[in-house]
Amino acid sequence: MIIAIDGPAASGKGTLAKRIAAHYGLHHLDTGQLYRAVARDTLAKGGDPADEAASLAAARALDPESLDDAALRGPKIGEAASFAARHPKVRETLRAYQRAFARRNPGAVIDGRDIGTVICPDADVKLFVTASPEERARRRYLELKQNGAKVTQDEVLDDIKTRDERDQNRAVAPLRQAEDAVLLDTTNLDIDAAFRAAIDIVDAAMGHAGQAG
Ligand code: DC
Repeated sequence: MIIAIDGPAASGKGTLAKRIAAHYGLHHLDTGQLYRAVARDTLAKGGDPADEAASLAAARALDPESLDDAALRGPKIGEAASFAARHPKVRETLRAYQRAFARRNPGAVIDGRDIGTVICPDADVKLFVTASPEERARRRYLELKQNGAKVTQDEVLDDIKTRDERDQNRAVAPLRQAEDAVLLDTTNLDIDAAFRAAIDIVDAAMGHAGQAG
């Protein structure tokens, strides 16, 4: 079973994906971590993620064991990752790992920007999780503040809008809802309500309606 979850930055798709995976006993891959790790490794070598050759070298050398790294969470790395993610050859290099992950037994929940459209077009269930830019900025701001970051909510909103723009308008695999994806707008839902809505969608798609706990 493959569940593909796409959506813009700070839409809550990562938290949802983790909980959905735990609920169904599936593996979980946050593909944003791959692009973030490429950006981290490029920067560590003094390279620029906007430079295709530098990002490609990092993508080819990427160690999947290095994804569990708190340094990947910051907004600066997210920004750098959105540059690394623009290069077609970087995306192609990371594709094989993502597709192999999707084939793991008994199945996987994979979240990102192009999972339903490019990585797993045959996924059993596709969700497109979104929320208004203002609500996403509010949530991300609270999270950053909790972690001690010195930013304003307006700065976070600016970052989110810039990143949306870059993710939606790049030439390869831009962020967009797959035609057969179900839209889940979490603007007015807290995480528990969003989780229940997601489970309802997955159960309905799998023909198990009513069985979720
Ligand atoms: O989801 P995130 O914020 O961790 O993603 C970081 C960047 O990586 C984001 O700006 C776009 C890119 N990305 C992508 O292009 N394709 C994916 N499947 C996942 C992330």
